[in-house]
Amino acid sequence: MTQKKQLEAAASFVSDQLKNEPTGHDAAHIDRVRLLACHIAYREGGSLFIIEMAAIVHDVIDEKLSSEWRLSPNRLELQLLSWEVNTRDIRYIMDIITTMSFRHRHKQHRPMTLEGAIVQDADRLDAIGASGIARVFTYAGAKGEPHYTKDKQHGSVLKHMEEKLLKLKDLMNTRAGKQLAEKRHELMSLFIKTWKEECGLTDE
Ligand code: ADP
Ligand code: NI
Repeated sequence: MTQKKQLEAAASFVSDQLKNEPTGHDAAHIDRVRLLACHIAYREGGSLFIIEMAAIVHDVIDEKLSSEWRLSPNRLELQLLSWEVNTRDIRYIMDIITTMSFRHRHKQHRPMTLEGAIVQDADRLDAIGASGIARVFTYAGAKGEPHYTKDKQHGSVLKHMEEKLLKLKDLMNTRAGKQLAEKRHELMSLFIKTWKEECGLTDE
C-alpha cells in the first residue's frame, strides 16, 4: 500500500470507530488535529507520514474513551500492520501517542521527537479557541459536569478552562504552535471574562 492509501485506510477506520463518541474525541476532532498537525509540519518540518498517521490514531487508545470506542494498544498495532505500515514506523507512532496526553506531561523524562511535539501541539490547539470551548461543553454534558459551581473544589467547565486550558498556550512545543495558540487563547480569555460577567461571578 502507498502511504497515501495507508493514511486513507486509517482515517476511514478511525472515523468509523469514533463515530458518535460523546466526550469530544469524535471524528471531527481527529480531522481538525490532522489538519492542524499538517499546517504546523509545513512550517516546522518532520516526517509528514508519521505526523499524519499519529494524528489520525492519537485518541483511539485514550483511557478516557469508554470501551465502546477504545482500542487496546495491541489491537491498534495489529490494525497498523494490516495497512502494511512498517514495524519501525509503528513503534514511532505508538511512542508518540502513548506519551502525548495531558496526563503524561509531568512523567516525561526524555525529550520529545519533533513529530511528537507537532502532534501534541495540534491536539492542544484543538482544546483551546472556539473548537476548544465547544468541546469542553460537550465533555461536561456527557459526564454530567456543571458549567460552574460556587464551590471551587468541584469540577466544572469554568474550572477546567481556567486551570487547564488557559495554561496550554505556554506549553506549546513549536514556534508555529505558539503562534496559532495566541489567537485561540485570546478568544478563550474573552469568552471566560464575558461569561463570568453574565453569571455574576467575580474573582475574589
Ligand atoms: P484530547 O482529546 O485533546 O487529548 P482530553 O482527552 O484531555 O483531550 O479531553 C478531551 C476534551 O474534553 C478536551 O477538549 C478537554 O478540554 C475536555 N475536557 C477534559 N477534561 C474535562 C473536564 N474535567 N471538564 C470539562 N472538559 C474537559
Ligand atoms: Ni485528541
